[in-house]
Amino acid sequence: MTAVEGRVREAHRKRFEQEGKIYSAPARVNLIGEHTDYTGGLVMPMAIGFHTVAAISPRQDGRAIFSSANYGEVREFDIASLDKQPTRHWSDYPAGVVWSLKQSALTPAGFDMSLEGDVPLGAGLSSSASVEVAVAVAILSQMGRKLPLEELAPLCRRAENEYVGAKSGIMDQFIVAGGVEHRAMMLDCRSLEYDLLPLPEEVCIVIANSMVRHSVATGDYGNRRDEVEAGQAVLRREKPGIELLRDATLADLVACRDKMSPESFARCKHIITENARVLAAREALLASDMKRFGELMVEAHASMRDDFAASCAEVDMLVEIANRQQGCFGARITGGGFGGCTVNVVKAELADAFVEQVKQEYERAVGIKADCFISSPSDGALALAAKGGAA
Ligand code: GLA
Repeated sequence: MTAVEGRVREAHRKRFEQEGKIYSAPARVNLIGEHTDYTGGLVMPMAIGFHTVAAISPRQDGRAIFSSANYGEVREFDIASLDKQPTRHWSDYPAGVVWSLKQSALTPAGFDMSLEGDVPLGAGLSSSASVEVAVAVAILSQMGRKLPLEELAPLCRRAENEYVGAKSGIMDQFIVAGGVEHRAMMLDCRSLEYDLLPLPEEVCIVIANSMVRHSVATGDYGNRRDEVEAGQAVLRREKPGIELLRDATLADLVACRDKMSPESFARCKHIITENARVLAAREALLASDMKRFGELMVEAHASMRDDFAASCAEVDMLVEIANRQQGCFGARITGGGFGGCTVNVVKAELADAFVEQVKQEYERAVGIKADCFISSPSDGALALAAKGGAA
């Protein structure tokens, strides 16, 4: 049992005087394929070893009570009368899952739930999907239900899109629910087909937190999405056969350049080139060619920074510092952008030295202490539940 699980179990006993059943969902990092998911594109995330843990036990009055150790707060409501009424509070995420379950005709009976997570908040590591999926798996298990990944992930995404009001894609919920130990996942966000890909043993994944906070629920993410959708709408109108940006080539985009804003053009260019980079990254992984994989990461970062305009000075500095270290194959911003973390593919035996050096140089350059984590691909919530609910 992990430390967080132990605390959640204890907190549940104390507050609700019940033995809670424990479920947990990890966080995720995206290796490559950024801002492609909501236009049917390709992504390559992996689940990582931070978790949201939920303890659940039944209650008889049809109410849902959520107690969060991270926020030191409780939210409760009557399940039957829960409407879509976001409060911009942490509890919108678990409440949104209950709402989304109801929309799928999976209305739960009453329950008490204790929650605690160690996922860094606002770091671009999907703390929100981690909460949504942990809550959904716990409630469904209590109902004696199991949803396949292809239904569970969209159900949790719906909570985030429609209840919380964040316009995110499917990547986070899908990998947080469906991740597999020792494997990265290449996901086709249109068909939801995926490949599980091994990472060569010679490398490890280092996540570096710039400590500049990011939130998908705030304006920047939504603005980028609007710019992308405006460009996609032009392509759809002008080019028969194009439904999603995923269907478009760079030549299609160039042909429509004067019909869209320069911003839409640049954002769509990032996405079209990024989809191609994900395919190339898959080939590189299959060939254990980490040099090529790293080059693609470097290109992906430049594209996020220049065409998608979703980086920031601190993160660019963190990437630049990482890329000049010995043993670093490639570094890039990961997640929604505008701050948060970088992901770095590093020679395993040089990872500790890499972390030390990057921290030192980053602090010297921008005056901020970065948090760094050496990660490997972990199980998602479904695999964890199948193995007995423990992380
Ligand atoms: C956030 C969203 C995802 C995805 C990424 C960018 O994490 O939740 O759906 O769009 O940003 O790749």
